[in-house]
Amino acid sequence: MGGSSNEKYVVHILGSQQSTKDYHKYLACTPPFISFFGSKLRSPQLYDLRLMHTSLDLCLCFGSVYDLSSLNSYTTTFLFLFSSPMELGSILHFLENRSILVTGATGFLAKIFTEKILRAQPNVKKLYLLLRAADSKSAMLRFNTEVISKDLFRILKEKWGGNLNSLISEKVIIVPGDITCESLGVKDLNLLEEMLKEVDVVVNLAATTNFDERYDVALGINTWGAKHVLDFAKNCAKLKHMYLVRRRGLIKEDSFKLGETLNGTSELDISIEKNVVEETLNHLRAENSSEESIKSAMIDLGIQRARKHGWPNTYVFTKAMGEMLLGHFKDNIPLVIIRPTIVTSTYKEPFPGWVEGIRTIDSLAVGYGKGKITCFLGDPKSTIDVIPADMVVNAIVVAMVAHANQPNESIYHVGSSVSNPVEFTWLQDYGYQYFTKHPWINKDGKPVIVGKVTVLSTMASFRRYMAVRYLLPLKGLQIVNAACCQYFRVTYLDLYRKINFVMRLIDLYGPYLFFKAVYDDMNTEKLRRAARESCEDADIFYFDPKIINWDDYFMKTHIPGVVKHVFK
Ligand SMILES: NC(=O)c1ccc[n+]([C@@H]2O[C@H](COP(=O)([O-])OP(=O)(O)OC[C@H]3O[C@@H](n4cnc5c(N)ncnc54)[C@H](OP(=O)(O)O)[C@@H]3O)[C@@H](O)[C@H]2O)c1
Repeated sequence: MGGSSNEKYVVHILGSQQSTKDYHKYLACTPPFISFFGSKLRSPQLYDLRLMHTSLDLCLCFGSVYDLSSLNSYTTTFLFLFSSPMELGSILHFLENRSILVTGATGFLAKIFTEKILRAQPNVKKLYLLLRAADSKSAMLRFNTEVISKDLFRILKEKWGGNLNSLISEKVIIVPGDITCESLGVKDLNLLEEMLKEVDVVVNLAATTNFDERYDVALGINTWGAKHVLDFAKNCAKLKHMYLVRRRGLIKEDSFKLGETLNGTSELDISIEKNVVEETLNHLRAENSSEESIKSAMIDLGIQRARKHGWPNTYVFTKAMGEMLLGHFKDNIPLVIIRPTIVTSTYKEPFPGWVEGIRTIDSLAVGYGKGKITCFLGDPKSTIDVIPADMVVNAIVVAMVAHANQPNESIYHVGSSVSNPVEFTWLQDYGYQYFTKHPWINKDGKPVIVGKVTVLSTMASFRRYMAVRYLLPLKGLQIVNAACCQYFRVTYLDLYRKINFVMRLIDLYGPYLFFKAVYDDMNTEKLRRAARESCEDADIFYFDPKIINWDDYFMKTHIPGVVKHVFK
């Protein structure tokens, strides 16, 4: 057996049922340390085996190895070696007396993070919440109206009653700032000095999450903004750990290398990307272009540059470049990158079903429940990787504890496609069942009756559908409008705009709708194992998607949550 890294193997382990389970346990814990006669074993089929965990570090066993490239099989002896598991101790104890900086504090995940820390460990030393605002007064106003007044904080308010205000004034420091600026745009020098002295952990949740963002804006926040947060973290005297949340088929928990592209052919230089933006802006301004046309040119530039280097949209492209800068410039900073998949409403805490804003798959739920969507585009056999927001936040906290003071880079995929996958077709069934039982009442007071949707499973069928249902009638309307001296101009333009909008959405989201891969979560599985085995308060910081019953979650938690918090 040669064991070169691009050979693929299926590992079939011989032995009694019980011992087979034990070997599965080994596979669950430390894949990078699985040795096969001294060579690394890299097999996607390992996922099928990752069922349990173990505390042993070494295993010698007998088995068959199938070489998929030649279809030969070998029965042989092989050796698994495992690293020592991480020791976590008490998470609550770790958090006690720590100071944490959270950027993007008005955002969805940041609010859930803030609430969790204050509820689980009120003895945290300080929570510095950085949000975009001109000064401290407007920052406080934003905190009061966009953060603490949200229903999310209901349980915390019940727990603390009249004392919540004093808890907040003692523990929470609102920081007006902007991550696109050096020193995170913190103008109050005393506050800046205090933060640099006090902060133990930086949690960067600031981002633009718009797939179709202007390139200059997305590059400023998601790429260079991440670098500014890193520079800030490097200057923090006590920093234990910097933590970032990013997004990215089998998709490995690997880092991006500076200059890496997804197509593997183009050359990517982030400084050149910055120059391209500046030159395009200068050119447009020299031509006296309107703000509207600058905005539209910048949106197009983002998609164009992303596609040039193999990414489907500006958001993921600029995020990937941010990761490259972090990996390259991190020096000795303990860096953890968390890549959640599609984040959905809370599973359990502070209460089930809290969600905010129309996010990815929820736009389908809203459109369908209101009777506006009658067809879906996507491969019915595909898997949709979703993960409840409270699990993402718990994974952040556990990773924080696991990596404090370790000067390396760790990457965690927090999702469900490997351990408890959701099929695309289930979502249609959940939507149909839910809205049939609980129809949305429209503004005329009438229930919206939903039907089973038509599923267009290929781009070709989608194009045919659009041509017959919309493009041909649009053409007809154009001819009639010309013949009637522009009498139908408004109707024509309205239909034209709507069709263009749908085509743009499909252009942006299409790659995800036919996405076949799964997100490797070996590192995250290892973290869960460490939490289970060495952490006394692991139950408080649950993040194992295997505990989720998706029928219950979607029917009793998520869809009702979306209807309550998002439907307007
Ligand atoms: N939610 C998901 O499904 C999901 C999935 C994968 C990864 N993620 C990642 O998780 C992180 C948090 O996501 P989220 O869903 O909580 O996003 P979100 O709700 O859109 O929040 C992002 C926050 O960042 C703030 N922000 C933007 N630019 C900033 C700047 N220059 N300086 C300071 N703050 C700034 C925004 O503040 P304003 O209020 O001022 O605009 C907003 O509050 C992001 O990195 C995102 O990419 C999210």
